[in-house]
Amino acid sequence: MSSTAQLYQAQSVSASQNRPQNWPRLSIAPMLDWTDRHCRFFHRILTKNTLLYTEMVVADAAIHGRRDFLLGFDDTQHPVALQLGGSDPKKLAEAAKIGADFGYDEINLNVGCPSDRVQSGTFGACLMQTPDVVAACVAAMKQAVSIPVTVKCRIGVDEQDTETALGELARLTIGEGVDALWVHARKAWLQGLSPKENRDIPPLDYERVYRLKQQYGAQFIGINGGINNLQEGLEHLQSVDGVMIGRSAYHNPLLLREADALLYGDAHEPVSDAELIDAMCDYCDRHIATGGKLNQVTRHMVGLFAGQPSARRFRQILSVEAPKAGATSDVLRAAYQVIVVAREEAEAYERDFGALNPAE
Ligand SMILES: Cc1cc2nc3c(=O)[nH]c(=O)nc-3n(C[C@H](O)[C@H](O)[C@H](O)COP(=O)(O)O)c2cc1C
Repeated sequence: MSSTAQLYQAQSVSASQNRPQNWPRLSIAPMLDWTDRHCRFFHRILTKNTLLYTEMVVADAAIHGRRDFLLGFDDTQHPVALQLGGSDPKKLAEAAKIGADFGYDEINLNVGCPSDRVQSGTFGACLMQTPDVVAACVAAMKQAVSIPVTVKCRIGVDEQDTETALGELARLTIGEGVDALWVHARKAWLQGLSPKENRDIPPLDYERVYRLKQQYGAQFIGINGGINNLQEGLEHLQSVDGVMIGRSAYHNPLLLREADALLYGDAHEPVSDAELIDAMCDYCDRHIATGGKLNQVTRHMVGLFAGQPSARRFRQILSVEAPKAGATSDVLRAAYQVIVVAREEAEAYERDFGALNPAE
């Protein structure tokens, strides 16, 4: 049994007590075009324990596509879960096996994405309407792999009653041994809203997810949607087993640096800004040496110093200079230098004038 499987099992013994150290209390949501391998490398430097999800990979693509390109990842990224899209149990089982062979720690099925492209393939959020199909997919994937098989879903779609819709999906998938349910705590509207609107407009209903956890005390239930920071995450953890953060973690990645200490009680020294930039420059150099482009990595870093002096300039340098032909990690170093200088200036100002204006 893989270590992640043991963690999910250990948790199911007791939802609220005696959680093992590395229990996935926090995960970073799967986000198409965002949580690619470069983004995950970056996030992993900031947090050692957080479970990272890939972007969704359609089962057919995993089976027939360029596997190394779609599924390959750096060994330092564990624990990392592969999210699959599909609704054909046989294909999903095959894709899950491919993922397990690539070294992923978990396979997750997407039952939450509402885009047209996804609906035409009858998978994603529209599967909330056919929980028996989801259960058959889970059963087939569980049969194919020994790593955990999990589902990420909504609380319902369109006019569905969320008690029944989520309740049935949970009952049937738990019956097939699903290892975890990560629930985006809002409905998806399959008609009339864009995927982006579907992440904001349908109201959040955290209570519905808490009730699911109360009903299935021994089952890992994670919550997702609108969680802005780790403090809010900790509050949810009073009621569920895990929190999944998407956009806030992407736009303000430094929040992840506190995660190991705050959520996992891990006392290791958090990475410093200078160490982080060094590690990312090394990574960029290696990526460029194998034919990659700087911007493919640094585009995930523009929010790094959000809220700090000169963060805007940092973002500008990365956005304008990194996409240029021949750009190297020097661009990242130069952008960081702007932050360093701004901090030195702020410190000097504080030293020289702070004492004169103690009330400010
Ligand atoms: C750019 C983007 C791409 C996304 N792609 C996926 C995806 O591939 N699979 C999935 O299950 N959810 C996807 N989502 C939804 C997120 O996983 C998450 O459920 C949603 O953003 C709500 O969480 P948040 O409020 O913490 O961002 C995506 C979200 C964003 C912003």
